[in-house]
Amino acid sequence: MKLQLNEKIQSNFLVVIPAWQDFDFNELKAFIPAGIFKVIEAWIQKKEYNWKSDELQYINFNNAKEDKDIILLGLGEKKENFSYNQMQGIFADIYNLAKKNKAKEINVIAEHLIADFGNVEEFIQLAAQTFEECSYEFDTYFEKKQEYLLKKAVFISKKTTENIIELVQNSLLFGQAINLAKQLVNEPANEMTPRKIAEMAQKTGNSYDFEVKVYDEKKISSFGMDAYINVAKGSDNQPRLIVMYHKGDPSNPHDILGLIGKGLSFDSGGYNIKPGEGMGAMKSDMAGSAAVIGAMAAISNAKLPINVTAVVAACENLISGRAYRPGDIINTMAGKTVEIISTDAEGRLTLADAMHFAIKHERVTQLVDIATLTGAAVVALGGTRAPVLTNQQELYEALQYAEKYSNEKYWQLPTDEEYANLNKSTVADLKNSGGRMAGTISAGLFLREFAQDRPWMHIDIAGMAMTDKPKAWQQKGATGFAVKTLFYFVKKMSESK
Ligand code: BES
Ligand code: MN
Ligand code: ZN
Repeated sequence: MKLQLNEKIQSNFLVVIPAWQDFDFNELKAFIPAGIFKVIEAWIQKKEYNWKSDELQYINFNNAKEDKDIILLGLGEKKENFSYNQMQGIFADIYNLAKKNKAKEINVIAEHLIADFGNVEEFIQLAAQTFEECSYEFDTYFEKKQEYLLKKAVFISKKTTENIIELVQNSLLFGQAINLAKQLVNEPANEMTPRKIAEMAQKTGNSYDFEVKVYDEKKISSFGMDAYINVAKGSDNQPRLIVMYHKGDPSNPHDILGLIGKGLSFDSGGYNIKPGEGMGAMKSDMAGSAAVIGAMAAISNAKLPINVTAVVAACENLISGRAYRPGDIINTMAGKTVEIISTDAEGRLTLADAMHFAIKHERVTQLVDIATLTGAAVVALGGTRAPVLTNQQELYEALQYAEKYSNEKYWQLPTDEEYANLNKSTVADLKNSGGRMAGTISAGLFLREFAQDRPWMHIDIAGMAMTDKPKAWQQKGATGFAVKTLFYFVKKMSESK
């Protein structure tokens, strides 16, 4: 995909003109050839077109052709503080219009939009990233693949920027990191096994230039990761412990931010088996690891000046003669014992060991874990916001900063001791389920036990990983949720050191 800034319209390309309500079309006189300008002006007058929200006007300028030449795209009333997130929605609408009209090349009249948005570099970067996000389709298993390809978009403006090729290239790579996370989640569990997740992490490390280490079951056992092994041992698909390194701040080698992603390639529930309906969706139980892999790619791509080490304890939760059972009492790498109330509360067991490994083996000093952890998160906030728990408010504040650039939303939950008490067992140090009440909070506070008083934040993306109501820049299925947020969160962390 090529993106350019140019003062002149390219002939034979579709022309898209997005504008706010009550827009004075004369503002664009300098950017549109006189002949075309007159035709559009006449249409606007005849139809009393006023750029209302989602109001489209197709204009056929060159009557010899079947194709529509010009599309007026109404953006509706202009919000006082026109946001980055809103701009992404506009770019997505433009892409989807081009796609609907099978236009391989488009002009977007952009002078006035860039002026409103404020920053030409950010404008072109967001355009490239959004177009890339929009272009994703999960067509791996169709004989016939998607045909549409937007080859070139020219943004018509007087403004220029020197390093546009590099800006666009980096933003396309950012978009591809988000699409990679979608692909990892969309792939079915027979394909996206723990071994395959590790291979994909390694492949991503190679192309985005970060180091990846992978450990097999024998190694995992030797680390004493008993909780993780207990979850993994019911499946013939062997676990893989994946560690990824971004060493962006070599002058402070002892400051390391840990990103921990839940990586259940499939979650049947184990002996506490899930109902058949919807079990297939549990191929998405590795969305936390997908977010972390995608974020590492984006972080490395941007060369953020901060050390980040990501850990994924990938495995599969199945039933077999070797699987763990309800009532079992198991150990963790940290040495705390856990009574198994439900084999379906497996995520917190794998994450507890991954967190301890990150602290003990990788010396991380702060932890952010991200997981499709509880059905209760879906009940509480639906598919609109992801619940968050933390023991350090600054981390949540950095996340709120990230929201402004990620088009993804979060909400903080309380961490009173009453909730932590739900995890107390009468036969072990902890139990792996605090019951149905406040299920998202008790699951999060189970994990807090393994942060060892280091700054820690937990993000439950159970409701966010998949959607059947995609936003304009998304598709049905996997959303790639949190890649963008984690990137901007880490960026903020790197700036506020
Ligand atoms: N992976 C599930 C949570 C989940 C549910 C993710 C729906 C995405 C959509 C998790 O392992 C799980 O099964 N959690 C249980 C915990 C309970 C047994 C304490 C749950 O939420 O029911
Ligand atoms: Mn489960
Ligand atoms: Zn699970």
